[in-house]
Amino acid sequence: MKNIITFLSLGLLGLVLTLNGCGGDSVKTNPAMPAIPGASTFKKYCTACHGADGKMGLNGAKDLTASALTQEERVQIITNGRKLMAPYKSILSAEEINDVATYVGTLKE
Ligand code: HEC
Repeated sequence: MKNIITFLSLGLLGLVLTLNGCGGDSVKTNPAMPAIPGASTFKKYCTACHGADGKMGLNGAKDLTASALTQEERVQIITNGRKLMAPYKSILSAEEINDVATYVGTLKE
């Protein structure tokens, strides 16, 4: 009987330690997380033509730092595409499009 109790309490201790160990890092702030949520989406989908700073202009892409569009207009272009730029409505969620449009707004000089 005593052995079983020792066994069970050790098991429980192990479980508690495991849960603490996992919860710790993953829930707390991740230093690699970008400050603006759209930044990682931009890096992944947009830099091929617009470049990391938005200025590259490959395939006739506009210099995003010189763009005078409003947030709504950017959302509209990213959602439905324009000329060589593909529509992103089937690739990104509405929230991701809104976030990346916000990020593009921060590239302006
Ligand atoms: C295949 C190349 C390509 C990719 C990838 C691309 N774009 Fe574009 N983008 C263009 C082109 C070309 C234009 C110019 C369209 C035009 O002449 O009206 C443009 C225009 C824009 C504009 C309008 C700028 C203005 O002032 O008129 C915005 C905003 C924009 N892109 C954002 C994005 C975002 C955000 C992404 C990623 C989700 C992205 N683009 C990915 C090619 C691309």
